[in-house]
Amino acid sequence: MPGILQQQSPETTLQLDVKELHPTFGAEIDNYGFLVFRNTGLNDTTHVDFSRRFGDLDAIRPYMTGGRKPRYDYYELFDAGNVDGEGAVLGHDNPRSHYGKGNAFFHVDSSFNPRRASYSLLRAAKLPPPNTGGSTEFADSRTAFDTLPEDLRHRLLEKDYVGAHSLHSSRKRGSPSFFADLHPEDFPMHRHRIVQTHEPSGRTNLYLGAHLHHIEGLSATESWQLLWSLMGWSTRPENTVSVDWRSEGDLIIWDNTAVMHRAGGGAFEGKYVRDLRRTTVHDASSTAWGLNEKKDTRPGFNSAEKPASQKLQAAVT
Ligand code: OGA
Ligand code: MN
Repeated sequence: MPGILQQQSPETTLQLDVKELHPTFGAEIDNYGFLVFRNTGLNDTTHVDFSRRFGDLDAIRPYMTGGRKPRYDYYELFDAGNVDGEGAVLGHDNPRSHYGKGNAFFHVDSSFNPRRASYSLLRAAKLPPPNTGGSTEFADSRTAFDTLPEDLRHRLLEKDYVGAHSLHSSRKRGSPSFFADLHPEDFPMHRHRIVQTHEPSGRTNLYLGAHLHHIEGLSATESWQLLWSLMGWSTRPENTVSVDWRSEGDLIIWDNTAVMHRAGGGAFEGKYVRDLRRTTVHDASSTAWGLNEKKDTRPGFNSAEKPASQKLQAAVT
């Protein structure tokens, strides 16, 4: 697969579907929303190298201010784990623990940025003991659209709603008391249409998730009602699946423009290290920038428009 990916230009989108060719040793791959690769043997270096074959990678460099150093050797690795600087489990009061709570809601990565993300590649560096939880769950937002009740589907197509996304909003929802003095409305949000064509498959996708603060053109109440019904519909049990992490080196690749995901909790929390690291690929589709200006700002952190709240900054770096 790397050989094939390497030959693609950044504009070329990748399609993956797996068809079993033989019960014990053969498969053909094409257009799936997420794929699980067990025990890949990847380390930080090869994980980042491999990810580059999917397109331009997002990096945390813009967020590192005041001489702060990244935890890893690569600015392209985002920390999805619960580990502190010494390798111990993050304390409950650590700002990063509060920050991480927002990942327990179904979301898509980076929808709060002007340019959204296509693929995320999440790798297990260290896992908690078996049967202590910590799986990752996925929801199929293309099938959610296909199966919507007829009147709702028509309403969405007719109104062509725009969603305003905010990292502040999902962080605050994850830990309302800790982020009590953080007001998402005070910060820039970024705008992406809710109904979009997923270009690699030609199917229609619902672009939603926990960063979605409100739907433009609706009252706050109408917006909440519609958001809750769309999120509820998209994340019904028959539309979701939970994936266990089994061994270090397991890698899950998903397409943020076709599926939502969330971190499953469990008994490991506060007790055992769960060190997951993620690369994130900038979307190269025609709707990558949504309705936003093409600017390299990271609204959740230090944007040119407004400095991030200190609490959020402390949580990320
Ligand atoms: C992520 C994320 C989920 C998890 O890395 O983007 O949401 O299970 N992770 O840790
Ligand atoms: Mn995520």
